[in-house]
Amino acid sequence: MDKLYVAMVGLPGRGKSTLARRIRDGLLAEGIETKIFNNGDVRRQLVGNESTDPDFYDPNNSFGRQARELICRRNLEEAREWMAGGGEVAILDATNVSRERRQYIESTLTDYPVVFIECVNEDQLLLNAFIRRKAELPEYAAFTKEQAIASFMKRIEHYETIYEHLSDEKYWMLVDTSANRILAEQPCESSPYYPAIREIVVSTWVNSLYLARHGQTEFNVQGRIGGDPPLTAKGRAQAKALAEHMRDKQIDWVFTSTRMRSHETAAPLLEDHPTARVMALREFDEIWAGDCENMLYSEIREKMPEVRAGRNADKYGYMYPNGESYAILQNRVRRGLRRALFIARDAPLLIVGHQAINRVLLSLFLRQRTEDVPYIHVPQNQYYHISLTPTRKIFERVPYSGPKAAKNDTSLKDPQIYS
Ligand code: F6P
Repeated sequence: MDKLYVAMVGLPGRGKSTLARRIRDGLLAEGIETKIFNNGDVRRQLVGNESTDPDFYDPNNSFGRQARELICRRNLEEAREWMAGGGEVAILDATNVSRERRQYIESTLTDYPVVFIECVNEDQLLLNAFIRRKAELPEYAAFTKEQAIASFMKRIEHYETIYEHLSDEKYWMLVDTSANRILAEQPCESSPYYPAIREIVVSTWVNSLYLARHGQTEFNVQGRIGGDPPLTAKGRAQAKALAEHMRDKQIDWVFTSTRMRSHETAAPLLEDHPTARVMALREFDEIWAGDCENMLYSEIREKMPEVRAGRNADKYGYMYPNGESYAILQNRVRRGLRRALFIARDAPLLIVGHQAINRVLLSLFLRQRTEDVPYIHVPQNQYYHISLTPTRKIFERVPYSGPKAAKNDTSLKDPQIYS
């Protein structure tokens, strides 16, 4: 019968559990009976707080080793039973970093094929964010934040000493989880679930992303570019209107640029969402206009006509003298989006960006022709709401201030959908 085990592999903080949940949700959406068997959940039930001691993970600590083997065995047994009773895809969510452990899995689960999915992610910023989040879990309640972080890092070090990459296993894929990218694979050709899982792994999955541009600034009024100007009174009113509009919406993460106008726009909303986390990412700083920073468009036209001519001829590819082009911006904005989505995991997030930044962000979802990207309309009183999952494709622009703004958001009832 076409059933499949999926066993996650990788050090802590590499996105295994998020990917496991996505695979589960994606397959369930197709009517495939899928369940996650998480070793961490069993460990917390069986050993409780003892497992916050990093030495529990020391491969030379026989108590810890035996306990972890028992947990693994128990999960394999449960998964096997569940498969015998009608389950179709069982996902084993654990580190499984040693070859020995994986051989044990392969030799125990002989009823159906096992596909190993190894998750890697070398982005230190993401790893730090993950460790900080772990340090806040209830199991670390007795630790200070610093102690919890140190303990978790030690745990990772222990795993590193026994970590071996996949190679001899029968079926596997190696995934860069920060980029949703498969780096290498040994496909399980016979399984109809393999292509379905593969598709989930490589898809950009966005549950709920709100993308707003900062409110009006003094520079916007003057037609001046770049710099770090504050909001005008109108800009502050727009920020308040945004907060008001978002009041009843769940927003767990807010990403800003490092610029004042982005922070000032997010501020009222953060007051209304006190549990939301906020992070400033340089990747979302506005296009760097180099020698033209802080200049008026009219000044550029008069004093540097070659800049205007260059932009008119190829706005996407044109690079400001000592500055950036939209084409260059692509890479850092893509990295910023990856970071934001990875950090927020699948929770609703808001990005407060800038005109050029939001154009590039939108182009990453819209598959726009590059020549049109630098002209995408990015108003300061509307935001984009994007939701792309296997079962939902929403892409809408919602006014939140000004005459078109609905008192109560009707956008979700009558969305503008592009799929
Ligand atoms: O004018 C506001 C602004 O955010 C500038 O800081 C930036 O240089 C510009 O928009 C980007 O838009 P465009 O590429 O159309 O000039």
